[in-house]
Amino acid sequence: VRAIGLVELVRYLDRQNTASFQGPMVDAYLNGNTVELNDILPFTRFREDTYARNLVRRTEQYEILVLAWLGGQRAGIHNHSGQKCWTQVLSGELCFQNYGPLKNLNECPSRLGAPLRQSAGSVTYIDDHEGVHSIANEGNVPAISLHIYASPVTHCWVYFEKESCFKQIELQSFPPPFEMEEMPALPSAPESPEW
Ligand SMILES: [Fe+2]
Repeated sequence: VRAIGLVELVRYLDRQNTASFQGPMVDAYLNGNTVELNDILPFTRFREDTYARNLVRRTEQYEILVLAWLGGQRAGIHNHSGQKCWTQVLSGELCFQNYGPLKNLNECPSRLGAPLRQSAGSVTYIDDHEGVHSIANEGNVPAISLHIYASPVTHCWVYFEKESCFKQIELQSFPPPFEMEEMPALPSAPESPEW
């Protein structure tokens, strides 16, 4: 896996179209390249109450988000609203647990395989056909991951363990920092629900 600059990634993704995002070339590119951590740090904000979603860029075709995880923070079992999702761990370690595809909203899906511990440089892929997953930072060290969705995902179904059912939630994110919108390759993102 090669580390590339964020601008290189954006230029590559901007050249794609709806059909090419479904094909093997984009998949191979995103599995073979991770983004330099230094390019991502300006977008990275943590939250005390939950893992934080930070928007890097959103177009009609795709979106890039940086997720920031303090020790112990976790994303419950969730789907990806029919979209493709590539995840790169850029710093720290995250634990991925896959489950079977979501069929019944009142039932916890069954686990698929053992939890997968991924450290910096590793890439995973998931979509709703493969199944759903949970992600957790089980250690004490903060972790940072880059997520690329094609197309953008505004809502997803999340499993609420106490109520033993899935509920649809609206996904929110911190907007890109103002100074990063000055980057020529990163024009300002469209209006979206933010904190
Ligand atoms: Fe996910």
